[in-house]
Amino acid sequence: MPARVAVMISGTGTLLQSLIDDPGRVYDIVVVAADRPAAGLQRAVAAGIPTTVVAPADHPDRPAWSAALAHAIQTYTPDWIVSAGFMRIVDSAFLDRFPQRVVNSHPALLPAFPGAHAVADALAYGVRVTGCTVHLVDAGVDTGPIIAQRAVVVEPDDDQESLHERIKAAEWELLPQVINRLVAHGLTVEGRKVRI
Ligand code: GAR
Repeated sequence: MPARVAVMISGTGTLLQSLIDDPGRVYDIVVVAADRPAAGLQRAVAAGIPTTVVAPADHPDRPAWSAALAHAIQTYTPDWIVSAGFMRIVDSAFLDRFPQRVVNSHPALLPAFPGAHAVADALAYGVRVTGCTVHLVDAGVDTGPIIAQRAVVVEPDDDQESLHERIKAAEWELLPQVINRLVAHGLTVEGRKVRI
């Protein structure tokens, strides 16, 4: 039986598309979950993948929302959960249900520029090299152990859009590669060191 992967998104879902289109994909994408009626859900629908929307506004507080999201995803019994452009932080109760099984793609070279404005922050800081990071999710904001990274050079004329587009192009390659390796080999974590 192929491994089962759930994907969480908030936006246009181009990272999701890179997973859907990965010719070497060794797992099934069993559900795409979103925190809003994200445009990217249409990509799941087009690929025949079930979708679910669990919106914070429909729940009294963050723990209740996070529990509802975990429950909705658990219904599909995933082996791995990929946060691919998901713009919210799940709580530790969510992570306890899927220990060391939640992976995020972040558009910067962590630990530099965590948070929701990573590309703008890197540009504003004036770095000459940024990139993307695939990491395990822990209870902090983009603080979990790093699995893989790829560098992207900042060009002198870059604006946020042009830089983010090149970072995403790196993510479209790196994320499918990493998820395939994780699914095939599993991982061990010693301190902050991840081995696949
Ligand atoms: C990606 O660059 C991803 O790393 C970023 O959102 C973009 C999603 O693009 N995620 C974060 O910033 C999470 N903090 P997409 O909607 O086209 O897949």
